[in-house]
Formats: sequence, structure tokens, C-alpha cells
Amino acid sequence: MDKVRKAVFPIGGLGTRFLPATKAMPKEMLPIVDRPLIQYAVDEAREAGIEQFIFVTSRGKSLIEDHFDHSFELEEMMERRGKSLDALVDTRFAPGDIAIVRQQEPLGLGHAVWCARRLVGDEPFAVLLPDDLMIGQPGCLKQMVEAYARVGGNLLCAEEVPHDRTNKYGIITPGAADGTLTEVRGLVEKPAPAEAPSNLAVIGRYILQPAIMDILAQQEEGAGGEIQLTDAMTHLIGRQPFHGVTFAGTRYDCGDKHGFVSATIAVALSRPDMASAVRDCLAGA
Ligand code: G1P
Repeated sequence: MDKVRKAVFPIGGLGTRFLPATKAMPKEMLPIVDRPLIQYAVDEAREAGIEQFIFVTSRGKSLIEDHFDHSFELEEMMERRGKSLDALVDTRFAPGDIAIVRQQEPLGLGHAVWCARRLVGDEPFAVLLPDDLMIGQPGCLKQMVEAYARVGGNLLCAEEVPHDRTNKYGIITPGAADGTLTEVRGLVEKPAPAEAPSNLAVIGRYILQPAIMDILAQQEEGAGGEIQLTDAMTHLIGRQPFHGVTFAGTRYDCGDKHGFVSATIAVALSRPDMASAVRDCLAGA
């Protein structure tokens, strides 16, 4: 079975829910404590063994490229002052390990993934949506890569959501369950609660076979008038193994202000350098 070496990060979205913060700054650069959201997704992918990082961006996202570039002035100045460069280690990549492709028009998640087809080539690949911040040991994608080694095919992260929120997610028609794996029998993008086949939702982590690219090439508009990854995935069900993986850990929906603040508090409380001060602050609130 081919190793999952490449990951696609669809980061072309506008982030209107965080205006005015995201008027000039990409939403993926919003920090949770002291790391931008995109850094958490990239760290998770690196931990899972990913070697090539493909960012599908749009206009106004060049700050993300700068974040993963060298910053000569900053590094030179810090060295001169005898300051440690440790905080910058995870922003460093070997030349060629990060590739950027532009999604010129906001045509949907499926279209964003398809924009990466020439870089992905003919091998399985991961997709990570940085809005979903996954905190766990090991990380979510690593758990999925371990599951992939057992069952192959296509995998997505699955989590139960409140019934009245099915219209925010891709929803799974579940088949047989075996431990953390659930067979995926069907998928529908953002169904109304009354039409939803279950409350088992797709969370923003996927391992997909390259055949998805040919399907995406044919795609027509789906929910919200966009080319949906969920719709394309339905064509693989029955042709290739398809499973949902229940993540042992916690997901924070950082595309939402409430989730973003919850993630900030959770990460702060997990940090030995600040946990007690933050706990005191919350106790006094
Ligand atoms: C996307 C997918 C959806 C999935 C969700 C997870 O939706 O289209 O199937 O459940 O991510 O976060 P979005 O949140 O981009 O609207």
C-alpha cells in the first residue's frame, strides 16, 4: 500500500465570520495562543509522516507563504542579541517541501482539492482543513494514517454532532462499526436535520485515493452552488473501501468564534508556562 506522503491544505476561504480581523489577514493566520491556526494543521501533518505540503490559496494569502519562509532580518537580529530561535523551528521547511497553488475562483472545497491534482499525481493524499483544530495524542492525521495501514482505501474523520447542526457538515450514512472505524455507506453535504441520514459528521481530515481527482474534474455544482468534495467522495463508495475514523481527542471548530475562544482556552490550559495564570484568570471571571 502506498504511503501517504502528500497533504493538501485548502486555505482559499475568505473568513468573513472573523471580520474585521480577517479584512487584511488570512483567517489561517489567526493565532491560538502563539501559533497561527495553519501551523497546528501543518504540525499535525508532519507528525503523521507527511513530506510534501500543498497549500491551495487565493488572493490575499501571501502572509501564509511568508510564515513558512526564512525571515533573515528577524533571525539575524535575534542571533545578534543572543536570543533562541527555537520558536521558529516548526516554521522551517526544506526547499520544495511546500508548494503553493492558486485557486483563482472560490468554487468550493472540491474545486480547491482538484486545483492540487498535478502536484498530488497518482498517489493517496491527505486533506486537512485548518479550521478544524484537532488536539490529541497522537494527532488526528496520525491516527488516520494508522487506520489507513490496516484498511487502505479512503478515510475521513467522523464525529457525532447535535442533530440540529447537520446542515453545517457532510453527513455519513454509517454501515458496520469496528472499534474506531465505521464503514461509510453514503454521504450527503449539509442536509437539513429532517433529511439527515444520521448525526455522524465529516470533520476536516481526509485520506483519499487519487481517483477522486478524475471525479472532481467532472463535478457539477452541489450544495450552496459549490463543487463539493463530499459529492465527489460518494462516487468512490462501493468502488473502494471507505471508512470514517473516530478521533480520540478533541476537535475545536475554529471557523466559529465560540470554538475559536474555546480552543484558545484549552491550548492555554495545556501549556505549563501559562496554565496556572490562565486558570486563575478564568476563576476570577
Ligand atoms: C467542509 C465540508 C463538510 C465538512 C466540514 C468539516 O464544510 O464541505 O463536508 O463537514 O468542512 O469542517 P465547510 O465547513 O467548509 O463549509
